[in-house]
Amino acid sequence: MNETASLRARAEIDLAALRANVRVLRGRAAGAQLMAVVKSDGYGHGAVPCARAAREAGAAWLGTATPHEALALRAAGLDGRIMCWLWTPGGPWREAIEADIDVSVSGMWALREVIAAAAAAGRPARIQLKADTGLGRSGCQPADWPELVAGARDAERTGRVKVTGLWSHFACADEPGHPSIAAQLGVFRDLVAYAEKEGVDPEVRHLANSPATLTIPEAHFDLVRTGIAMYGISPSPELGTPADFGLRPVMTLAASLALVKDAPAGHGVSYGHHYVTPAETTLGLIPVGYADGIPRHASGRGPVLVGGRTRTAAGRIAMDQFVVDLGGDRPEPGAEAVLFGPGDRGEPSVEDWAVAADTIGYEIVTRIGTRVPRVYVNGTDDPNEATGGVPQ
Ligand SMILES: Cc1ncc(COP(=O)(O)O)c(C=O)c1O
Repeated sequence: MNETASLRARAEIDLAALRANVRVLRGRAAGAQLMAVVKSDGYGHGAVPCARAAREAGAAWLGTATPHEALALRAAGLDGRIMCWLWTPGGPWREAIEADIDVSVSGMWALREVIAAAAAAGRPARIQLKADTGLGRSGCQPADWPELVAGARDAERTGRVKVTGLWSHFACADEPGHPSIAAQLGVFRDLVAYAEKEGVDPEVRHLANSPATLTIPEAHFDLVRTGIAMYGISPSPELGTPADFGLRPVMTLAASLALVKDAPAGHGVSYGHHYVTPAETTLGLIPVGYADGIPRHASGRGPVLVGGRTRTAAGRIAMDQFVVDLGGDRPEPGAEAVLFGPGDRGEPSVEDWAVAADTIGYEIVTRIGTRVPRVYVNGTDDPNEATGGVPQ
């Protein structure tokens, strides 16, 4: 991080770690293709650089939630298969069809809109029918599946669509043995069998997210959709640590210590004075706050490595800054404060912050704000394309 040491804060993104994680996950689901899920700006890591790195490591598909996220990948020059699944009436269906994006269809309103857009575009849409096998969120209910399948088959006959995939999403894949897992697998198999009996001939059937990729081999089908594990974060601490699965955290979040000062015993710290120095001490100012995505819920609990020791957010995390009690240590202003990273230097993990904020690792990284620059390292394995490490 030397060249960026003067930054207030930075999120270092290790693309070699991401590539290695993709390879580990492909090994876990050896019979299936892998979709790199890069929605929400690559879970806060940067969608385009992460998508490029995932492609380099063999991800056949890229996945996003919104069509605008998918279109942005195309606009950045990413080719190959891209799928997106979170649609609202109005599209943009036609733009997605013209950009060769596979689009998810969960109900009749969406099928009607995609057929009309395909007619306007003068080319068939690639659609993937999504079933609600038990998550109870998006997807077509089993009772409505025959109507959706029949509508899609009719549109295939008129050349308006090609059904490229049948798919669904787990509710509790991160809770091994949860009865919903077997139930969803059973419903999925039945709904796929029904669609195939009606003449649908999908390229891919898919159900697995990261936890299912890691722990439920019978859920791999033709394609696994991995997000969080690709970024080197465990889907759930109960399943294991990233290292247990051979995964390495991709993001390191660090800041430059903004101030070190003496404080007497009994000094209130930060808004509300929820921390009062127990003795004469030194205080360090960490110049990131909830506007940067540092959860205010972790006030009094969030861990930070400063001067070789783990400190704890003292009192409230404010919008732009928070304080740690340095217990008499005097690191220089500008010294590195590491909020989380892979742990090589003993720094806390994303999971530690998730515990401190009573949330999940997904939320910690996804919320890191745009005010924190992403600094990319290890941009490519290809010696002909080495850039010094900042692919854009
Ligand atoms: C439909 C869908 N598939 C796959 C994923 C990836 O999940 P995970 O990050 O647990 O791998 C998500 C993310 O929530 C999703 O919404």
